[in-house]
Amino acid sequence: MLIAQISDTHISEPGTKAYGIAPMAENLALCVEHINQQEPLPDVVLVTGDISCSGKEEELAYAADLLDKLTMPYYVIPGNHDNRSALLSVFQGDRCPVEVSIDNKFIHYVIDSFPLSLIAVDSTMEGEPGGEICEERLAWLEKQLIINGDKPCVLFMHHPPARFNVIESDIDGFVGSDKLGEFVCKYPNIQQILCGHLHLATFQQWNGTVISVAPSTGMGLLLDLTMKRPSQFFLDPPSYQLHLWNSKQSLISHTVVVKKGERSYLFKKQ
Ligand SMILES: [Fe+2]
Ligand SMILES: [Fe+2]
Repeated sequence: MLIAQISDTHISEPGTKAYGIAPMAENLALCVEHINQQEPLPDVVLVTGDISCSGKEEELAYAADLLDKLTMPYYVIPGNHDNRSALLSVFQGDRCPVEVSIDNKFIHYVIDSFPLSLIAVDSTMEGEPGGEICEERLAWLEKQLIINGDKPCVLFMHHPPARFNVIESDIDGFVGSDKLGEFVCKYPNIQQILCGHLHLATFQQWNGTVISVAPSTGMGLLLDLTMKRPSQFFLDPPSYQLHLWNSKQSLISHTVVVKKGERSYLFKKQ
């Protein structure tokens, strides 16, 4: 099974660039084209939030137009730049199979039709940049993991639930991180927690699993491990993750960088 993961696409309204400078729609189109040409073809694509720049329905609808060109199923979850109700009005259905009711305001769901179950977790906190898992979401997650039994699974959510020594995780924070960590320890079948938000490709062992953070499709975070400077981003070639679940039952993650018009150069060993 092959999973592609796209994150932090930050799509602005048609005809504009994100923050006036980043060609994020063009970047997303390049990633989609690249994924469609992968061999083997990914079985599924996970889009891990910050799909839009500011949560507007027009931005999300434009992102949907670009993502709909994928030739395989894809699933979305919200990030802190998205808006739950706008996201649902654009994506609810096959691309976001969530049942939202008075009792459930969160965008979480389970895809169990693959060898690896895909569990979408809503880590957003209305109006806040940081992440959260509250008692209600934890209870929902526990119920899903009990139903899932010992079948291998991944969680996918926008915010990484741990500190990575960068402002985006350590200052933005994650409410409920300790409780989620204690809980995750009990389920060794959680292969990885696939996240975004940091605009960095980075990994961390955490409570018996691995938190794997996908890069943005073109806005990289300038790495500052001193955390003294305000966050700065730079224009990066678009990139995405490929997660390969192999017959040895391990999940291998690769970062794929999409460089427009560049050919690979073969270096021969001397
Ligand atoms: Fe982002
Ligand atoms: Fe984010």
